[in-house]
Amino acid sequence: MQFFLDTANFNEIKDAAETGLLDGITTNPSLVAKEKRSFQDLLREIAGLVKGPISAEVVSTDFAGMVKEAQPLAAIAPNIVIKVPLTPDGLRACQALSREGKKVNVTLCFSASQALLAAKAGATYISPFLGRLDDVSENGMELIRQILQIYRNYGFKTKVLAASIRHPIHIVDAALAGADVATMPYSVFQMLFKHPLTDRGLEKFLADWKKSSGLTKVDRNSASQ
Ligand code: G3P
Repeated sequence: MQFFLDTANFNEIKDAAETGLLDGITTNPSLVAKEKRSFQDLLREIAGLVKGPISAEVVSTDFAGMVKEAQPLAAIAPNIVIKVPLTPDGLRACQALSREGKKVNVTLCFSASQALLAAKAGATYISPFLGRLDDVSENGMELIRQILQIYRNYGFKTKVLAASIRHPIHIVDAALAGADVATMPYSVFQMLFKHPLTDRGLEKFLADWKKSSGLTKVDRNSASQ
């Protein structure tokens, strides 16, 4: 499973990139608005750091506007993925942009029928929103399973990108279902590393080591000679 960070915050991206476990980035207009700076400059900066896919969302809602908006975004770096909403115009734009050889992430997917349309439109990624479905008492994970099954049935190449992730169990369940990618907030990425038994175990190992005789230290030194 690939790990994307769902953020437009450069410091978060830098920290996550340093782990060597970050595969890409997704942004959306709400996340970019929080940064209060030029979208293009921000994308340039992110592209200087992350070589994997970076989703940049259009804000036009009509077909011609989306296709036009996509051009300068895609020109920023070869790894920019154009993000379009799952609307009839968005799917038309997806087809046109895919034909031009651009990668497209179709976002705001809340049903299997929408995901089927996106795959037929040639989307590189489909982004089902797990958390927002769970928020309204629907089963986000069941949607991921349905989409994966449908794509398997017909051999669609569109990758399933589990989005609107709220906690590590979303990641684990999406991985069990076979989702290709999970995009998560930085806070969730950090949570993936954590377990209290790891902290406690490490603390004990180090305390025992400190208490040990000088012999262990000598052995270590001679091993490295
Ligand atoms: O970027 C799309 C999606 O991941 C948004 O998540 O937390 O705003 O529902 P959220």
